[in-house]
Order: sequence, then C-alpha cells, then structure tokens
Amino acid sequence: MLAQQLLLCYILVSYGRASWTSQHAFSAASAFEPTKRIGVVGLGTGGIATLRALRALPMHMREGWQITAFDERHAVGGLWVPQDYPPDPPSVPQTPAYPGLRMNAVHMHMTVPGEPFPPETPLLAPRERVLEYWQGLFDATPLGEHDRVLLRHSVTSAAWVGDAERGHWDVQVMDLSTNRTMGFQFDNLIVAPGVNRFPRVPTFEGQDAWLAAGKRLEHCMWFRDSNRYAGQTVLTVGGGPSGLDVARHVVHTARKLYWSRQDGEPELPDIRGAENVPRMVSLKKGLPTLNNGSTLPDVDTIILATGYEVRVPFLSATGFLDETPPLNGDRLTTNGRYISPLYEHTVALDSRYPPGALYFISLLTYNPTGMTNAAQATFAAYTIANASLLDARDELRAALAQREQHVRNEAGVEPERYGHKVNSGYGAEEGYAADGFYQDLLVRSLVARDPRLAGMPGIPRGGFNLTERWRVWVMEHTDQVLVGWHEMVDERGEGWEEEFVRGQGTEADYMDTMRRFLEFWDDYSEPE
Ligand SMILES: Cc1cc2nc3c(=O)[nH]c(=O)nc-3n(C[C@H](O)[C@H](O)[C@H](O)COP(=O)(O)OP(=O)(O)OC[C@H]3O[C@@H](n4cnc5c(N)ncnc54)[C@H](O)[C@@H]3O)c2cc1C
Ligand SMILES: NC(=O)c1ccc[n+]([C@@H]2O[C@H](COP(=O)([O-])OP(=O)(O)OC[C@H]3O[C@@H](n4cnc5c(N)ncnc54)[C@H](OP(=O)(O)O)[C@@H]3O)[C@@H](O)[C@H]2O)c1
Ligand SMILES: *[C@@H]1O[C@H](CO)[C@@H](O)[C@H](O)[C@H]1NC(C)=O
Ligand SMILES: *[C@@H]1O[C@H](CO)[C@@H](O)[C@H](O)[C@H]1NC(C)=O
Ligand SMILES: *[C@@H]1O[C@H](CO)[C@@H](O)[C@H](O)[C@H]1NC(C)=O
Ligand SMILES: *[C@@H]1O[C@H](CO)[C@@H](O)[C@H](O)[C@H]1NC(C)=O
Repeated sequence: MLAQQLLLCYILVSYGRASWTSQHAFSAASAFEPTKRIGVVGLGTGGIATLRALRALPMHMREGWQITAFDERHAVGGLWVPQDYPPDPPSVPQTPAYPGLRMNAVHMHMTVPGEPFPPETPLLAPRERVLEYWQGLFDATPLGEHDRVLLRHSVTSAAWVGDAERGHWDVQVMDLSTNRTMGFQFDNLIVAPGVNRFPRVPTFEGQDAWLAAGKRLEHCMWFRDSNRYAGQTVLTVGGGPSGLDVARHVVHTARKLYWSRQDGEPELPDIRGAENVPRMVSLKKGLPTLNNGSTLPDVDTIILATGYEVRVPFLSATGFLDETPPLNGDRLTTNGRYISPLYEHTVALDSRYPPGALYFISLLTYNPTGMTNAAQATFAAYTIANASLLDARDELRAALAQREQHVRNEAGVEPERYGHKVNSGYGAEEGYAADGFYQDLLVRSLVARDPRLAGMPGIPRGGFNLTERWRVWVMEHTDQVLVGWHEMVDERGEGWEEEFVRGQGTEADYMDTMRRFLEFWDDYSEPE
C-alpha cells in the first residue's frame, strides 16, 4: 500500500516535472541558445543510464547543453513499469513484464558501478525492486535548468537534415495527453527504445486449422498469469530466457508441459516436471510437428517464447533505418536481429551523417545491463563532448569488421544472425586484440585517445577496470545461484529468502550471501 502511494506520488511528481520543464523551456526558448541540443529517446534503464552519464560530465565539457528526453509511458523505468490494464491481443502490450517476474541474475550482476541495491534485497530481485532501483537512479540525477523530461511523449519520426559532415535531427513528437505533434531539433540523438517491444511471431504451416479448432497460439509478451493454463497441456516454444521463465510458471498449473528447445540455444537449466522436446517446425494436420518427425497430439495451447524483433519505427519511417537487408551497406539497416553498421553496438556509421550524430544504448542482450548501459552512455557522453575522441568513420568501420570477424570465428555464426551479444569476440581469451570485458574496453578506448580522462566521472583510474574484481566473481557464480534460488522459492514460497538477506546491504555483504547460499544449496541439493 505504502509502495503504491509512493508510486502514485512519484508519477505526480514526474508529471509535474515534465509539464513544468516543458512550459518553462518553451517560454524561455527564445532567450536560451544551447551550445548543444541532445535528444534522448526512451527512459528505460538505457535512457536513465544516458541521462546520468550526460549529467555526470565535468561542467566544462557540457556548458550550455540542453538535454531533452522522451518516453511514451507515464513513468520512467521502461519494461519494468507495469501496464495498468490487462493485455488485449492482438494489440501489443506496453511491456512483457508480468506480476511475479524476477531478475534472471543476482542483482549485483545488474547494477551500475557504485550503486548497490538497497539493504535486504533478495538476490533475485522481484520486478518492483528493479523498478525502484532505476527510478531511484533517475530521481538522483540532477537535471539542468534547460533540460526537459517529457513523459507520455512518443517520438514518431527522426530525420537527419544535412550531410556527412554537419546537420541536425528533425524530430517529430506526439504529446499523448493532447495528441498534438511537436517538432524538435537536435545535434545528437541517443536512442534507447528497448529491444523487447516487438514480439517475433513466426507463422507455422497449418496454423489456421489449429486456431479454427479452438486451440490457442500466443506469444509470451502477453503472458501475465499462469492460472490461464490450469488443467491444459501446454507447449512452450523457444529455449531463451523467456521460454525458461514462462515454463517455470506454467509447469505449476498446466496438466502437462512440453518445452520445445533446440541445439545451440543458450544453455539454460531443465525444469522439473517439464518434458523437453525438439524444435517445433509446423502445425501440419492441425498438430504440433517436431523436427524429428513426431507430432504432439494432446496440446491445447502453444506459448511462443520466440523472442523479439529489433526495430526502431521512428527511424525507419524516415528512411534512416532500413528494414530490408542486406546489411553492412552504407545505410543503417536492421534484419530484426541486428542493426548494422554500428561501432561497438552503439555508434551509428551511416554515411549520411557524421559518427556521433546517432547512438544506440542497450541493444545488447545477455549482458550485465547496468555495466554495459553505463559504459555505452559514458562513451556517448564523452564523444559528444569532444568529437575528436571518435576515430573517423572508415577506422570505426574497420574496427567493426574486425569484431564481426571474431564473432564468426568464435561463435561460428554470422554476426547478423548472432545479434547484439557480447559474450563472444571480446577479450584476449577470444583472440581479441585487448583483454577485458566489453564495457571495460569501451571506456578504456576513451583513455587511449586522451589519457587525461582516466579517473573522470564514469571512467576508472589508470590500472583499474570499470568492472570491479568482486563483480567478476559474481558474474561467474550467478547462474549457480539462479537454479537453486528458484527451486527454493518453488518449494518454500516467497519470503523463504528473508533469512539469507537479513541485515545485508553492502556489496561485500551480498557476496557473502551468495557464498552462504551456494554452500547451503550444495548440502541441500545433494545430501550425504
Ligand atoms: C521479461 C523480461 C525480463 C528481463 N529481465 C531482465 C533481468 O532480470 N535483468 C536484466 O538485466 N535484464 C532483463 N531483461 C532485459 C531488459 O530488456 C533490460 O534489462 C533493460 O531493462 C531494457 O531497458 P531498455 O531501456 O533498453 O528498454 P526498455 O525497458 O524497453 O525501455 C525503453 C523505453 O523507451 C520508450 N520508447 C520506445 N520507443 C519510444 C518512442 N518512439 N517514443 C518515446 N518513448 C519510446 C518505451 O516506452 C520504454 O519506456 C528482461 C527483459 C524481458 C523482456
Ligand atoms: N527473468 C528474466 O530476467 C528474463 C525473462 C525473459 C527474458 N529476459 C530477457 O529478455 C531478452 C529476450 O529473451 P527471449 O527469451 O524473449 O528471446 P531470445 O533470447 O531471442 O530467445 C528466443 C528463442 O526462441 C527461439 N526461436 C525463435 N523462433 C523460433 C521458432 N520458430 N521455433 C523455435 N524456436 C524459435 C530462438 O532461437 P533462434 O534464434 O535459433 O531462432 C531463441 O533461442 C533477453 O535479454 C533476456 O535476458 C529476461
Ligand atoms: C488521442 O488519440 C487517441 C487514439 O486515437 C484517442 O484514444 C484519444 O482519446 C485522443 N486523446 C485526445 C486528448 O484527443
Ligand atoms: C521425437 O521427439 C519426441 C519428444 O521428445 C519423442 O517422444 C519421440 O520419440 C521422438 N521421435 C523420434 C522418431 O525420434
Ligand atoms: C579532445 O580529445 C583529443 C584526443 O582525441 C585531445 O587531444 C583534446 O585535447 C581533447 N579536447 C579537449 C577540449 O579536451
Ligand atoms: C582488468 O581486467 C583484466 C582483464 O579481464 C584483468 O586481467 C586485470 O587483472 C583487471 N585489473 C584489475 C585491476 O582488476
């Protein structure tokens, strides 16, 4: 109840802040001439990390800047903000997050540097805690006098007006409270619109007959409540984190659960009570048909956990993000999995505008969200402040080509199929030029250009990595915790974990919690 009141207050405050700042800025617009106009699209974790990094720059580097940030939702926090009405297919929900969602890693793995979760947070933080964490970071970010945060504002188009050397973005924005369209101009555009917004819904041969027979076929983006599947035989398709998550919930209510996975999918644990089956290839003859030729005759509902498409409609609308491959031309293109050409998944290398005109934050999946978002945002902030920190487009393209070759060599797949992941192609172990994690190499590349940047906000001192030593240990052990933690929640219910996190608050405490849990789990799961 208290939490709800706080959330309401928060929303009112942010509304107040948004409308106040916009009126203020519009009336003062003629008097104030910004030195740089920066647009930020999306205020999920990526956009919040971006605001933090921009505002953290030393004052002399951001004198006279005006930052304008948009989000179409009523609150900041992106997909962690609950949708306040039930999903209504076929319209796409505002978020895939559902009641009962927890993080898929321990929270120390997900934080931004120097900002632990509050005391006594369960290791696998529930959605509400994740939202509070990011909203707390947003609230603690001081906005400049001329900065604007416009919630319930949807960016509908963005077009570069200019050439390969100079110009600006013309951005159209719809105020969802009035349905009025407004125009903005920006020198730099940083987009963090999220990659879990457009469900990938494959169509299967025989699907019409399946639906006509009254059977269900739905994407997990609409999943909210496992009671919907009570007594049914359910087939979950897709072996990514969403498939695991949905299977974990539905297995408790369904009469039977099949989980269709395939070779080469990320190695996720089995679910007790669910039967693993091969990839579903069609619904021929009105039955799920697997790629080993067998059919599953008794299925009532198919839940597609087949992932999401990487799309940014407000750029595609103006021809600034092509949706028709081939990739790796001069123009920014997406095939639904991968946007190219982007230097380090961040800097757009389209030949129609200079590098540094357009940045993407948070395209990565399977990554330590807070660290990679912070590193990308820091990289964007410093390179906007000093464009000569960025190499010329040709050099950035050569670096991209080199990284993509490493993905081919190490992961054995084409980058455009592999997508925006960083667990291959980085670090000396993978044969990469330098040693370290993606986020470390990204900020270190700034210091390589200008050694005076070492120790500046967001950039570690010489000899240190952005990724602290303790965090490396956390990364290496998070999956182990994940399995046991969920089994304990299943067996003993929520609240079971209180004894483990009581009195814990610092990063060192939380590591101790992890250690104690792993010892406990070792004994518990394999008694003598
Ligand atoms: C079910 C699920 C669970 C997950 N769990 C974890 C986890 O445990 N740990 C983890 O680290 N990651 C998790 N992730 C990954 C998650 O995507 C990232 O952690 C991160 O929160 C994504 O943040 P984001 O800012 O990139 O995108 P989002 O959270 O999607 O935020 C993007 C924001 O941009 C706004 N926006 C988009 N387009 C426009 C526009 N045109 N105009 C105005 N506003 C716009 C949206 O309204 C939204 O608020 C999970 C993902 C899913 C789907
Ligand atoms: N609790 C949590 O924290 C949580 C929960 C859910 C999601 N997430 C996050 O959300 C993001 C997206 O995860 P996701 O699982 O939704 O997507 P994902 O990682 O893209 O996984 C989707 C899976 O479905 C498979 N697939 C696609 N089409 C298929 C088809 N026609 N038949 C069979 N399989 C098919 C894909 O394999 P192919 O690539 O081979 O097609 C892929 O393995 C990730 O960043 C993840 O970490 C987190
Ligand atoms: C804005 O447009 C939406 C969708 O067309 C509509 O539902 C809503 O009532 C409109 N709001 C206003 C204030 O006109
Ligand atoms: C195909 O897979 C199903 C589910 O795992 C299994 O029951 C069946 O025996 C397999 N069929 C063949 C021909 O291997
Ligand atoms: C910008 O970066 C370059 C290195 O790329 C450095 O030499 C220069 O001094 C920097 N400019 C400022 C104003 O800091
Ligand atoms: C920084 O990271 C590299 C590569 O992972 C590692 O070898 C080195 O020990 C780290 N340095 C510190 C101070 O943690």
